[in-house]
Amino acid sequence: MSAKNVLVTGASSGLGDQFCRTLAANGYTVIAAARRKDRLESLYNDISEAGGVAHPLAMDVSDVENFAIALDEAEAMAGPITCLINNAGTSVSKFATDMTPEDFDAVMGLNLRGPYFLSTELARRWIARDTGGRIVNIGSLSDSRAMPGHTVYGTSKAAIARLTQQMAREWINKGINVNALAPGYIRTELNAPYFDSPNGQAVIAQFPRRRVGEPADLDKAILYLCDPDQRFLTGQVLHLDDGQGL
Ligand SMILES: NC(=O)c1ccc[n+]([C@@H]2O[C@H](COP(=O)([O-])OP(=O)(O)OC[C@H]3O[C@@H](n4cnc5c(N)ncnc54)[C@H](OP(=O)(O)O)[C@@H]3O)[C@@H](O)[C@H]2O)c1
Repeated sequence: MSAKNVLVTGASSGLGDQFCRTLAANGYTVIAAARRKDRLESLYNDISEAGGVAHPLAMDVSDVENFAIALDEAEAMAGPITCLINNAGTSVSKFATDMTPEDFDAVMGLNLRGPYFLSTELARRWIARDTGGRIVNIGSLSDSRAMPGHTVYGTSKAAIARLTQQMAREWINKGINVNALAPGYIRTELNAPYFDSPNGQAVIAQFPRRRVGEPADLDKAILYLCDPDQRFLTGQVLHLDDGQGL
């Protein structure tokens, strides 16, 4: 793998936006995928002004039937993809008894079904080309810590941890390393109002260090997990949570 072309889903905000900026600043050509084109254009402009290389890609991770077309488009723009970050994710914050089948499918569809079929579509290409590749799944501390109101979300992230191990094992002799990064609470534009509220402050007060992370706290880890020279780590879930789960 001489090229470093990374596809990041959920690139239009939060952690995905930060991953794109960090990877572009470290020599990666970034394909930034999400549904909101205006946000991707703005990210593209920022990365270009900073001297990096990025390509915006309009893509819906719940639309698995169109993954092959989306990857063809990405590879036409950037060349062969060498790394995938399955970052797009969502949660419906309801107690288990209140979740509808539609809520369930929305969370599992984006958090599990999408990453599954995007990974397999790309792995088939890597196996056919005999190039290997890197997959980084974005999990969560809630893969192993039960949180009321997040039963389906936590279940989807536990499944991502297992998926990481299974795919790593299946592709272990194909040069494909599959790992997961499972963050604790990180302040992003969507959850900042919650963390600034009395309820959010009460949650933060329970953490050992009484703080939440910033997206940049994941920079070093994402660079390590994407690194094509990192050949010895596969099938692992790195919990990067500031001890919030202790
Ligand atoms: N923030 C945290 O504290 C935290 C902690 C642990 C794990 N995580 C995980 O980290 C990942 C990113 O979370 P975040 O906090 O950065 O959330 P966020 O700011 O809400 O970002 C979610 C991203 O997913 C994209 N997305 C949503 N639906 C999509 C779809 N159908 N197709 C394609 N993209 C879609 C959104 O873009 P568009 O709407 O433009 O498509 C957006 O870019 C998630 O997997 C989340 O579970 C977050």
